[in-house]
This record gives sequence, structure tokens and C-alpha cells, in this order.
Amino acid sequence: MMNWRKYVHELTDDQVDSDFDHHSSEYAERNDELLKELREKCPVAWSENHGGYFVVTSYDTVSTAAKDWATYSSGNDEGAGPKQGGLHPTNPHKNGIQEEDPPKHLEIRKPLNKYFSRTAVKELEPEIRQYASWAIDQVIESGECDLSTDVFTTVTALVTNKLLGLPLNEASKHAEAMHDILKIPPGSSERAAAEELLQWSLGQFREAALARREDPSDDIISAIATMKVGGDLLPLEEVVGGSYLFMSGGVDTTSALLSNTFVYLDKNPDLRRQLMENPNMLEGACEEFIRYFSPVQGLARTVTKDCTLGAQSLSTDDRVLLSFAGANMDATVFEEPESVQIARRPNPHVGFGAGVHRCIGKHVASSMFCITVEQVFARMLDLRIDHEKSRRYQSLGIINGWDSVWARFTPGTRVTTTTVL
Ligand code: HEM
Repeated sequence: MMNWRKYVHELTDDQVDSDFDHHSSEYAERNDELLKELREKCPVAWSENHGGYFVVTSYDTVSTAAKDWATYSSGNDEGAGPKQGGLHPTNPHKNGIQEEDPPKHLEIRKPLNKYFSRTAVKELEPEIRQYASWAIDQVIESGECDLSTDVFTTVTALVTNKLLGLPLNEASKHAEAMHDILKIPPGSSERAAAEELLQWSLGQFREAALARREDPSDDIISAIATMKVGGDLLPLEEVVGGSYLFMSGGVDTTSALLSNTFVYLDKNPDLRRQLMENPNMLEGACEEFIRYFSPVQGLARTVTKDCTLGAQSLSTDDRVLLSFAGANMDATVFEEPESVQIARRPNPHVGFGAGVHRCIGKHVASSMFCITVEQVFARMLDLRIDHEKSRRYQSLGIINGWDSVWARFTPGTRVTTTTVL
């Protein structure tokens, strides 16, 4: 076991916020305030929670660490070594390329890029549109729904299952597994049930991977299951981990972005009107909402050699949490960071990360966002959010998400003639 406490004695009082815990209910209530205080007081601060870790909150320090994969490793030794991967505390299931360092990381990522290019995403758009229409059809006659589950998660889960090559009728069960494992903090009483459901998902990925090795198709699981890395097929569990990464990256992030956006627009009707009248502004707005909400709040790295970050000395094997949310609110980079400015240009946010791990799915995310927003605007014209009834995640430590976003609207009629499920 590492002696985390030894470092605390080398830090000044200003460099220690021993209470900070990104999984706490306090963080869930006032994450931006806590991050601002840390960024201004000490952008690389020590917390004693979860075995001890440094919290990195300024734009400069987060981007420096995210781009220096050799010093700040994404690797996950799965308990066999000091590298503990992207989640803090660690995730026992290795999470695909997000938890690999170059050169292996690039060898796996390169053949997958073609599924996520602008051209590939353009080709996917008719399906995204169909899924969004169909999801809205399921609730449009009732005049009320939970937008987060019924529409946003349905769309993102269908698109992600389609990309992975998994049956669409299991999309909602996979989505539930991804939501639960990301929102239920380690150590809580509901965690065992979340782990069990996750095992179901991993089992489905395993079955699909074995089948695709025999009979490959044009989808991501086939691509991961059949690629050769260093001349060999990847071990089966790495194919499972790779599929898990795409499922969790594809579903929860964009649905969290959509939920936050609609809650915000309900409180800012002028902006909502502006976007309804100018759909060409949605792409830029998507970038700004990603900066403002940081759907992925932060991810961890393990330090591989003694070094200095933001005037803070770090030692080999230290854990650091890169707070994308903290960096995205840094006033030294973003003018008036606490205001949403949909025309903000340039907008060098790190909501999609930075460096070699920068999000591979960003064009898919943007398309799912723009198409879903346009369709909700067009079909739920007088939509209002029930803020009292809507619930955020109890832990925002990883994903800034919502359990439910209840909405009411004048009932409408169905439009799709083909069924999706
Ligand atoms: C608003 C939506 C999204 C946000 C905010 C987001 C955010 C991020 C961030 C911050 C990273 C960097 C991870 C790191 O540095 O360790 C990342 C990586 C990744 N994302 Fe996304 N993501 C989104 C949508 C998607 C979608 C739709 C997919 C797939 C369908 C996806 C798949 C991935 C994958 C596979 C990686 C790992 C890339 C690598 O390690 O090379 N993401 N994403």
C-alpha cells in the first residue's frame, strides 16, 4: 500500500483541502463554487478522500497534464500495479482506450476513427433523426414525460447500440447499467445492484465479441474484436472493456448535456427563442453548453515520474483528478465564464478532454444534440420543465447528469410510420 499521507506533511495549508470530495453531496450541490475556490486558492490541491489525490482545477494545469500522457498516465493496472485508470477511486473494469497509453492506445484508436469522422456521422444522421422522432412519438400524445429518460437517453442509447452493432431492443437496459454505474458512488448501498447490472452489460459485450470474431460485420464491436494489435487479436476482456467504454461514453454524456440544456433554457426563455428561430446557431451553442456544464466533470491520471504541476510537487504514483469542469470556468481563458455565450469564439473548452484522449465521439455528440434539440423544439412548442419534480444525479463526480427532467407540453400526434423496436 502507498503511504498517501506522507505527502500532506510537505504541503502548506493553502495547498490542502482535505475535505474536497468530487463524489460528495456538497459537490453535487455547488460544484462550480467549490472548483472556483480551489482554482483561485490552489489549482493543484490535495484531498485526503478516496486514498488521497490531487485535484487539478485551472485551465493551464488541466491542459498541461491532459496533453502529457507520458507523465500523466491513463493506464489501469487493474489492481496489479500503481496505475489506477480514469476514475478515482479506481474502476475495477478496464475501460478500453481511455485507459491505455500510446503506442497501444493509438494502435487501437486509429482503425476506429473512421466510424466517427464528420463524413461517417453525416451518413448516420438519418438514423439519428429517425430515433429522435420515434422517441418523441412514444410520449407526444400524453402531454408529459421525463425528457431525460424517455427522449434523451432513448436517442443516445439507440444511436450507440447501432454503432456498436448491438440489438436495439436491449438499448434501454444497457443505458440503465451505464447511468447507474456512473451516478451511484462507490461505497453506497445501491452500488452492488449497479455492479450486477453492469455485469449483464459486460456479458452481452462478451457474447457479441465472440460472435463477431466468427462473423464480423461493419460495427465497432466487430472492429475491436478483429483488429490486430502488435500482430495479435486483443484479449477478449479488452474487447469487452473497449465496448464498455463506447457504451458509457456514447449514452450518458450527451443525455446529460441535453438534460442540462433544457433545464437551463426553461429558465432563460429569450435564449430558447433565439435558438428556436436560428437552428444554425445550435452547433456553436452545443460547444458552449459543453463548456458551461462539463457533462464529464473530470477524469483521473496516475503520475509516472516526480514532477511539478502548477508549482506543486508531485511524486511517482500520485493520483490526480483533472477537473475539466474547473478548467472550463477559468476566467483567465474564458471571458465571463459564468455566463452562457452561444456565439463565444474561440471556445477552446476542454469538455471533450485534450491531447491523445480527446473525445473520439464529438461529432456524434454534436449531431445527436442538434437533431434532438431541433425536434423537441418543433414538436413540443410550449414545453415547460417541472423543476420541483426533476432530479439531478446524487453524485456529479463523473457525469453532470440528471435522473429525471419532467416536462409538460400540449399533446401532439405521432409522425413516424416505421417502428424502431
Ligand atoms: C457531450 C458528449 C460527450 C462528452 C462531453 C464527452 C467527453 C469526453 C472526454 C472528456 C473524453 C476524454 C477522456 C480522457 O481524457 O481521459 C472523452 C473520450 C472519449 N469519448 Fe467522449 N464525450 C461525449 C460523447 C461521446 C460519444 C457520443 C462517444 C461515442 C459514441 C464518446 C466516446 C468516447 C471515447 C471512446 C473516448 C476515449 C478516447 C480515447 O481515449 O482516445 N464520447 N469523451
